[in-house]
Amino acid sequence: MMMNRLKAALGAVTVGLLAGTSLAHAQDADADLIKQGEYVARLGDCVACHTALNGQKFAGGLSIKTPVGTIYSTNITPDPTYGIGTYTLQEFDEAVRHGIRKDGSTLYPAMPYPAFSRMTPEDIKALYAYFMHGVEPVAQKNQAEDITWPLSMRWPLSIWRTMFAPAPKAFTPAPGTDPEIARGEYLVTGAGHCGACHTPRGFAMQEKAFDAAGGPDFLGGGGVIDNWIAPSLRNDPVVGLGRWSEDDLYQFLKSGRTDHSAVFGGMADVVSWSTQYFTDADLHAMAKYLKSLPPVPPARGDYTYDASTAQALDSGSVTDNAGAKIYLEQCSACHRNDGGGVARMFPPLAGNSVVVTDNPTSVAHIVVAGGVLPPTNWAPSAVAMPGYKTILSDQQIADVVNFIRSAWGNKAPANVTAADIQHLRMDNAPIPTEGWANATAATATWGLFMPQPYGAGWTFAPQTHAGVDAAQ
Ligand code: HEC
Ligand code: HEC
Ligand code: HEC
Repeated sequence: MMMNRLKAALGAVTVGLLAGTSLAHAQDADADLIKQGEYVARLGDCVACHTALNGQKFAGGLSIKTPVGTIYSTNITPDPTYGIGTYTLQEFDEAVRHGIRKDGSTLYPAMPYPAFSRMTPEDIKALYAYFMHGVEPVAQKNQAEDITWPLSMRWPLSIWRTMFAPAPKAFTPAPGTDPEIARGEYLVTGAGHCGACHTPRGFAMQEKAFDAAGGPDFLGGGGVIDNWIAPSLRNDPVVGLGRWSEDDLYQFLKSGRTDHSAVFGGMADVVSWSTQYFTDADLHAMAKYLKSLPPVPPARGDYTYDASTAQALDSGSVTDNAGAKIYLEQCSACHRNDGGGVARMFPPLAGNSVVVTDNPTSVAHIVVAGGVLPPTNWAPSAVAMPGYKTILSDQQIADVVNFIRSAWGNKAPANVTAADIQHLRMDNAPIPTEGWANATAATATWGLFMPQPYGAGWTFAPQTHAGVDAAQ
């Protein structure tokens, strides 16, 4: 009798304990899922686009310029009225991977859903848990796009989506792929949407390739975005990553600097809001994947350092070269006569792929506007390069840019004119190249048979935070 009562009591205690633990388990599981989702949000850099300059985190309102007007990123906090608080998991998935809003209309591809379409259901589920339960709701109204009718109609976007966005399909690596490289491929082509800037775009501004199967276009170097150019991430030794080691890539993505490069422009946003938070394992996986990409035929041979520029600068025998003289007076204190810079402070200009890309907009832009190498958790100092727009004339800037494009063994065309610099400075106009001009023609033809909102200069370029926001 006694025994039975005891047994029953013990039983009850056990049941109680079990119930308690399973509840705790459920809470842990939710907390884990939310944490996992927070990390996936870092992988996708949702915060950079969905946070206005000095605005509240994820409340939207960052302006994104297009030639027909300005669009704004939306509030993706769980606020039920102004945010996505009433979205079901399926509706969230429709927006993030399919590019379709809750009301059925298509999103502008400024939202990189064509890349996100490869994200796995597990990652989407975690992301959803995070946005519903890990993000503070903010009651901030979305800003209507600033585009006049009829270009404001969204239906052409759905045609664009059917023609150019890949059908959503969770990423599966090719059989036999090294699991680390497969993880890197998932990060680069999926959540990380590196191709949104680094892959050239076609006549309708679609990315020309979404993975290596798409050939040499994939990550082959993008067009002008916000007057910055995202160079090739293929292994070309001059204009690509051919001379970068896996560890260089790891350092660059984690801290924004290596011994031979420093992050700037749109990439500064990517490093400071996104990649610096990746786990070491994920950074190594991306680096390994990028180094494993099939080589593209080198566009401009190999790079060999040429010491004669440094000798000429050292001896001061450059009086007949206007660009070299300006370099000595304005630039060499930091970037040095040998073009080698100072490791992890002032990037070298000798053999730097950024300096020798075919289109000189990016390199001219940094000389005009200057730049701040953003502090990261791993390299906390902010180092700045002054802008020269009020110090040097248009002709002087053109001269010094042409000089560094052809000094120390750099072999880029010295094709920058004073008029280019004036347009860049006054109208924020990128420097045209033949490729850009062709794209304009192609887009114009496209406009004849399709009333579409894209035109020359459409960039999907969000305002850059340049890594200094409080919301970070
Ligand atoms: C490169 C900029 C960019 C990035 C990165 C980005 N978004 Fe967006 N997103 C936008 C823009 C712009 C819109 C609004 C597009 C429109 O109005 O058609 C948008 C729309 C959305 C919508 C639809 C909201 C609605 O009102 O229905 C959701 C949901 C969303 N984004 C979630 C995310 C998530 C989650 C991530 C990260 C995994 C992310 N976005 C990353 C730019 C971005
Ligand atoms: C918003 C546009 C944008 C996105 C998205 C982007 N990049 Fe970049 N990236 C740039 C620009 C602009 C540069 C040139 C400035 C610089 O070198 O810092 C650059 C430069 C780089 C460089 C240095 C290349 C060189 O030759 O100096 C690497 C490496 C790189 N990006 C890797 C990545 C990876 C990996 C991703 C995806 C996780 C990515 N980028 C996503 C715009 C972007
Ligand atoms: C006070 C030191 C300083 C001076 C002077 C200076 N720079 Fe820089 N430069 C920097 C720093 C720091 C960066 C990295 C900026 C960033 O990441 O935003 C940089 C970046 C660059 C880059 C981009 C390279 C890369 O990979 O990031 C170019 C090109 C460049 N400078 C050219 C010049 C030219 C040309 C001059 C002279 C007209 C000049 N700089 C003067 C410090 C300087």
